[in-house]
This record gives sequence, structure tokens and C-alpha cells, in this order.
Amino acid sequence: MFARYFARCGARNEERGGREARIELLAGLSGRVLEVGAGTGLNFPHYPASVREVVAVEPEPYLREHATRTAAAAPVPVTVTDGTAAELPAADAEFDAVVISGVLCSVPGVPAALAEFSRVLRPGGELRFWEHVRSRDPLFAGFQLVADLAWPHLMGGCHVQRETLAEIGRVFTVETCRGFRFPASAVLSPPAPRILGTARKTGS
Ligand SMILES: C[S@@+](CC[C@H](N)C(=O)[O-])C[C@H]1O[C@@H](n2cnc3c(N)ncnc32)[C@H](O)[C@@H]1O
Repeated sequence: MFARYFARCGARNEERGGREARIELLAGLSGRVLEVGAGTGLNFPHYPASVREVVAVEPEPYLREHATRTAAAAPVPVTVTDGTAAELPAADAEFDAVVISGVLCSVPGVPAALAEFSRVLRPGGELRFWEHVRSRDPLFAGFQLVADLAWPHLMGGCHVQRETLAEIGRVFTVETCRGFRFPASAVLSPPAPRILGTARKTGS
């Protein structure tokens, strides 16, 4: 049900700053890219020409089918495939970059997913992320904690109080990160606090 809701309504936020955020997320990428949890493929139109190939993993069949159609019109070659963040269909060190947007809120195990992203990245490869996170405002974070009692049941397993940046920093070296409210006009939306940035695989 959430997949159908997301496919129909998710695109609305593209007009409210989503498109610009995706362009920023993907700017400057090159080589082979793995996108995890691609949804309907809203990132696909914004990959720069310097990207040689995108492999997009999407576990949900309805969204995967939608993403496959979106991929056909993408400006770079995109292959859509089944898989999960915990078990990516990729060899060690195969990719130059991993891209995630709105995904770590939903995966059952964030540390395991990040370890898997690191496994498939070459040394020096990048993780590009645009995720919603727990607010730094204690009052709003309290509201998120309460909202999180129901939110995952309504929104396909999405949690709104995760400390995602700290989790990323345990596996990768965070190079850039900016925090903002999205959409800017959303005052009482539990997933409004966002982070967008780049982290690097610095180990082997
Ligand atoms: C809010 S949607 C975001 C979709 C897309 N990344 C975007 O920016 O529009 C969350 C996505 O994460 C996917 N997802 C959920 N659990 C996942 C997992 N364990 N591994 C990979 N993807 C997952 C969902 O199927 C869905 O496509």
C-alpha cells in the first residue's frame, strides 16, 4: 500500500525543492554508481553525463517496475534490479559511488547496510546521502519519538528518529553535510529534518 501511495504522491515534493536537492545530491558523480532503494527512479533524470552506468537496487516489486520504466528515459544507462541494502547484488569494490535518498530510515539494520555499502565501494569511493533524521531541536525530537510509535506502520517501515549521520560517521569519513527542513514549508512533518552530503570510504 505504501509503495502505491509513494509512487503516486512522492513526485509532488519534486516541485517543492526535491528536484534541486537531487541535483545537488548527484552533482559531480562519475564512473559506475550503485543506487540503493531507488523507489520509482526520481533520481534517474538528474545523473550527470560523467556517470558511465547506474545499477539501481529496489526490493519492492511495484516500485521496481515503475523504476524500470523511468530508467528507459534516463540520460545515462540505468539498470534496475532486485536486492536489499543488507545483501547487495554486487562484487567487492565494484562501484565508484553509492547513492541513497530516503532509504536508511527504512532498512531494518543501518550498521549492516552501511557495511554493505562500504564493501561494494572501491577504496576512496563516495557515499552520497539525502536522508531524514532525528532533529537537533530536543522538542521536535521528542515529537518525532512519539510519532515513531505509529509512523513505521503507516509508512512502509520508515522511522523518523534515527541518528543517521552518526551511523554514517562510524563507517565512512563524512566530508560534507548540510542540514535543512524539507519541504521548507513543512512545520509539523516528522520526516522534515534532512541531511544531504558526501562521505568517503577511507579504509581499504
Ligand atoms: C521513501 S522511498 C525513497 C525512494 C527513492 N530513493 C527516492 O529518493 O525517491 C524508500 C525506498 O527504500 C526502499 N527500501 C526499503 N527497505 C529497503 C532495504 N532493506 N533495502 C533497500 N531498499 C529498501 C523502499 O522500497 C523504497 O523504494
